[in-house]
Amino acid sequence: MSWDHVWIDVNIATMDPTNSAAYGAIADAALAVKDGKIAWIGQRKDLPEFDVFDIPVYRGKGGWLTPGLIDAHTHLVFAGSRANEFEMRLEGASYEDIARAGGGIISTVKACREADAAELFELGRQRLNALAKEGVTTVEIKSGYGLDTETEIKLLKVARELGKHHHVDVKTTFLGAHAIPPEFKDNVEGYVDLVINDMLPAVIEQGLADAADAFCENIAFNLDQTERVLTAAKDAGLEIKLHAEQLSNMGGSAMAAKLGAKSVDHIEYLDEAGVKALAASGTCATLLPGAFYFLRETQVPPIELLRQHQVPIVVASDFNPGSSPICSTLLMLNMACTLFRLTPEEALKGTTINAAKALGIEQNLGVLSEGMQADFCLWDITTPAQLAYSYGVNPCKEVIKNGQLVHQ
Ligand code: NIG
Ligand code: FE
Repeated sequence: MSWDHVWIDVNIATMDPTNSAAYGAIADAALAVKDGKIAWIGQRKDLPEFDVFDIPVYRGKGGWLTPGLIDAHTHLVFAGSRANEFEMRLEGASYEDIARAGGGIISTVKACREADAAELFELGRQRLNALAKEGVTTVEIKSGYGLDTETEIKLLKVARELGKHHHVDVKTTFLGAHAIPPEFKDNVEGYVDLVINDMLPAVIEQGLADAADAFCENIAFNLDQTERVLTAAKDAGLEIKLHAEQLSNMGGSAMAAKLGAKSVDHIEYLDEAGVKALAASGTCATLLPGAFYFLRETQVPPIELLRQHQVPIVVASDFNPGSSPICSTLLMLNMACTLFRLTPEEALKGTTINAAKALGIEQNLGVLSEGMQADFCLWDITTPAQLAYSYGVNPCKEVIKNGQLVHQ
């Protein structure tokens, strides 16, 4: 055997759907890595013999391996703070009130237009470190706090640079249609034209985005405007996804599903017709419990319908300064269970196999099986449910990215 290293004395939550055990679990398991990929995985007793003097052996002390966590929805490149809006909301103002009064997303836009790339990079790096320490190995990062061509490009470049300089892989998403900038307050169609005819071609030309997103909501873009943006992005070769049905039912999810969106995100107000549309197109439903919690929402996403129609459920942090200033993917597992009644297994699927589907990387990531990329974590836990059950003492002991130990 010419492996690079071997793991023993571990249990493995493979999340492999071909393994019918809960979590695709293998007790008393072993795993071998070669050239950044999983070369062998199974029960320890079946591990082929190998030369222990030649191949390093790591012992997991009876802990659990899981796939590296994937956070499929974040806005982690931003400047400034919105703590003042938090205080305003505690005094009775709503998220919508603040947005309509020119605060909200627009206040972060002002801070991002003023910030230089180096400052944004450093802020992003610290946040990426925080996620990485809790086992995140792949993250999606959106723009959307520039709302002019120059600043949208700046944010996407920073996100791409973070991916180059950090072991966490970064997928970037162009979110030019996140909010209406003050300059276009009375000319929303004009802003949509700018997104489609100026920003999008610049983003494509510089290869800065893997996907495009928009915010379909009564405080942002209507259904027609959103459809125009997503159609243009799709025609330009990007994957598409959508912030939809967060505060009201606008029909955005069904429209995005028809266009072949990878995911629709938030979806508290999604109805059964919308759920059926997702099922028909294989679109993932991304739940963002951090935003639900922080905005003190009460409308719970239609979890039971998603289960009935077998829509892949994703769980993500939505980390951003306004609706989810919580930089922890791990905490989202807990919140998805306590707030949305997901099972711990569904929550973990939402940050592994299903998160990989939402990002279109499921051929390589999200599951531990032979031939998959060797991105995994060792956790000091006695059952995988513990990842969703408890929070505060970080159980992440080691992180392996592309077969290399990157965090201990
Ligand atoms: O996903 N809903 C729209 N966009 C973000 C919030 C952005 C902000 O408030 O800064 C979200 O919740
Ligand atoms: Fe978001």
